[in-house]
Parts: sequence; C-alpha cells; structure tokens
Amino acid sequence: MSRPTVLLLHGPNLNLLGSREPDVYGTATLDDHVATATAAADAHGFDLVALQSNHEGVLIDAIHEARRDHSGIIVNPGAFTHSSWAIHDALAAFDGPVVELHLSNPDAREPWRRTSVVSPVATGSIAGFGGHGYRLAVDAMAALLA
Ligand code: DQA
Repeated sequence: MSRPTVLLLHGPNLNLLGSREPDVYGTATLDDHVATATAAADAHGFDLVALQSNHEGVLIDAIHEARRDHSGIIVNPGAFTHSSWAIHDALAAFDGPVVELHLSNPDAREPWRRTSVVSPVATGSIAGFGGHGYRLAVDAMAALLA
C-alpha cells in the first residue's frame, strides 16, 4: 500500500530563510527545515511534498491539487497569513487536516500580524517555536491522520 503524502507549503519570502531577519527567523534555511520535517514524517510513515512560492495563485493552485493528491497540508503562508482570503477559501475547500505553522509568534509582534485569516480554516496552529515547530507540526499531522 502506498504511503500517504502531506503537502508542506511555504508562502512569500520564506525562500530567504537563513539570511532574512535571522534575529526573528533564525539561521536555518528553508531546505534545512524541509529536511527536518521530511525525516520526522518518514518516521511517522508518510511522505512530504514541499513547495514554496512568492505568488498567491501558485499557492492556491497547489492547495487545489492537494484535494486530489494529498492527505493533509502543513502551511506557513508568510505574510499572506494576515491578508489572503483567497488562500482561506482554498483551504476551506480542502477536506483533510490543515496545520498552520509559523517560525515566529505573530501574536507577540506588530499588531497587524495578530490577525490570521488562515487560522479559522486550520485544524490547529503552531507558532513561536522556531525550527522546532516543524517537528511539532509533523507530529500533529501524524496524530490527525492516525
Ligand atoms: C511568518 C510570520 C508572518 O507574519 C511573516 O509575514 C512571515 C513569516 C513566520 O513563520 O513566523 O513571513 O509566517
């Protein structure tokens, strides 16, 4: 039997992790985080398919394709977290579990980051644990898929 797959989706500017505001986001690169998450998923018996895009429509297309191809979605939408009702609607049309993930704790930062339009359509959210959040998000997804 083939293993379930989970989409690991990253939004804008997260391709710059490692050099972008390291005091906020740390020095690990996106590839480092994907490798951590992939190893954790493998231990739980599922595979990750990772995609990063700076373009809202590409993220929405990936969420639509996940309806057919993937059992769950782990998503760090970057700044689209706070503004994209289109990503909200795409996730609302996805039937499986959705884990919202942030490296920083947006609630502890500028006021405009305190609203997430993604949280209402996520099964749950993990924020503020830096790179450890990837392992936590994968553990949460494993529990949701069990
Ligand atoms: C972020 C938090 C967002 O507010 C910000 O726009 C990001 C990264 C995080 O992972 O902490 O790009 O999603």
